[in-house]
Amino acid sequence: MLDESGAGALYGGNKVRKLERILADARDRGHRDLITLGAIGSHHVIATALYARELGMRTHALLVAQPDTPHVRANAGRIAALCASYTAVPSRAELPVRGPEAWARIVAETGTTPYRIPAGGSSSLGTLGWVDVGQQLRAWCTARGIDCVVVAAGSGGTAAGLAAGLRGSGVEVVGVRVAPRVLINRARLGALAGGALPTIDGSWYCGGYGRYDARVERVVQASRDAGLVTETTYTGKSLGAALERARAGPRVLYVHTLSGVEPGESAPLPTDLEALLR
Ligand SMILES: Cc1ncc(COP(=O)(O)O)c(C=O)c1O
Repeated sequence: MLDESGAGALYGGNKVRKLERILADARDRGHRDLITLGAIGSHHVIATALYARELGMRTHALLVAQPDTPHVRANAGRIAALCASYTAVPSRAELPVRGPEAWARIVAETGTTPYRIPAGGSSSLGTLGWVDVGQQLRAWCTARGIDCVVVAAGSGGTAAGLAAGLRGSGVEVVGVRVAPRVLINRARLGALAGGALPTIDGSWYCGGYGRYDARVERVVQASRDAGLVTETTYTGKSLGAALERARAGPRVLYVHTLSGVEPGESAPLPTDLEALLR
């Protein structure tokens, strides 16, 4: 297992490596305000708000609906506490209207344009953080006879970066799709990875972002019993897929992408955010 849970002191998980370059770019361009997008339980929004604050920047979030779980609800409280402002977007179809409205409001309030970070931090700049990891893993995987690397694919930058970094090494990168095909597909991942395509495993997808089934719940429970914290949106699925592959024979490296560090801050959920928990 490659354990990213302690990747940063303020917050861990796979977003830290993406944000290193993204936030440095925002700061170098003189931005004080950032705008990003995520689900109401988004680890990406939490990580962005925490690390941006360290650098003196403020995060504004567009938030979309996600199925209610205790983990998602706790994250929602953190997002409410950490973001400078947020816009609840009840359905994705409203994004083309709500996004520009939020942008205009921030410009009016701050007198400057915010720096835009795409969902999950999967810009080409953010993805580079995971290209680095792939490159660093090449020799390690060869020395241990690793056949494949398995990771959750939500916005795709982590799997795409690993595929680019491991390109030509003979190691297969498998992105376990947790979002609809319209968001995670060969065209999108290929564009992010400069043409080095990860394999996309859609067999753990449960019909909607954040949805899960009894099989995912069993993985989450078993991993917790064994001392590894996973959740139902990402890591319950990616760990399940990794174990399934390993049982079939290949030597598998599972990339654990969930933060093991949780921020203390949390705020009660206003009704518009509560309505995004479904
Ligand atoms: C815990 C966790 N694992 C995996 C992912 C997927 O990473 P990516 O968005 O790069 O596909 C995310 C973020 O979306 C995440 O929060």
